[in-house]
Amino acid sequence: MSAQIIDGKLLASQVRTEWKQRAARLTEQGVRPGLAVIIVGDNPASEIYVRNKVKACGEIGIHSEAHQFSGTTQPEEVLDCIQALNQNTHVHGILVQLPLPLHFENNKIITSIAIEKDVDGFHLYNVGALVTGNTNFAPCTPFGVMTMLEHHHISAEGKHAVVVGRSNIVGKPMAMMLLERGATVTICTSKTRDLQYFTRSADILVVATGQPQMITAEMVKPGATVIDVGINRLPDGKLCGDVEFDSVKDVAGYITPVPGGVGPMTITMLLCNTIIAAERVHQNASV
Ligand code: GUN
Repeated sequence: MSAQIIDGKLLASQVRTEWKQRAARLTEQGVRPGLAVIIVGDNPASEIYVRNKVKACGEIGIHSEAHQFSGTTQPEEVLDCIQALNQNTHVHGILVQLPLPLHFENNKIITSIAIEKDVDGFHLYNVGALVTGNTNFAPCTPFGVMTMLEHHHISAEGKHAVVVGRSNIVGKPMAMMLLERGATVTICTSKTRDLQYFTRSADILVVATGQPQMITAEMVKPGATVIDVGINRLPDGKLCGDVEFDSVKDVAGYITPVPGGVGPMTITMLLCNTIIAAERVHQNASV
């Protein structure tokens, strides 16, 4: 048996077509959705992510602006920039690309973003809202994964979902969102003892460890849905995920490829969150 491929690239383009119309409607009504992206330092991966985010905004009709700071910038300068963006009515979403340089305290920076503009959903208030089932902005990668599951009518209700990875960006919010949808959730890490014991009992397995091809066929339950959030570069220059795609696809029921799986969905959900933020401003102005 070979798994059905969950094509993130195709779904992302379908979702973007739909949301482009929503952005256009808002713009016609005088509110052009706007996103500000802040990047500090010269992390090459972050630079590519930010470039892709800005490009995607342009394609869907969202105003975007990138604010670039050198790696030696002091946090106060970035805080001043965020304060100005909080007040800027053309900007509905603010995103600080992570990781920040080591002399920055992530939470100090992120909690200075206005809650209603925190399109990453990383502000402590929005994390609390997510945990209590009152989601304000769903973090983009887990939001993308849930959209993929929904599109393929893969219900989480009553299933055992195993999330490998405990990051604030993916693992933890992913677990919360699956829990909210009725799954029984286990959170593992790449260091979990006898990881295979857990992964083999997963109906839905989400892997976000950053360890190339660590999930192999014998670690997967036949028929399981396998979602690969990893994106790694092999010594030969090829991209691969955290899942050994070639062997796991013969065991799983559904599987996401890398590239072309979760990646395109992450940016798409950021665009959606920015349009949602702008729609809320418009709705509040018209009541
Ligand atoms: N770095 C890696 N992924 C993300 C993300 O989704 N948002 C931000 N702000 N930084 C990231």
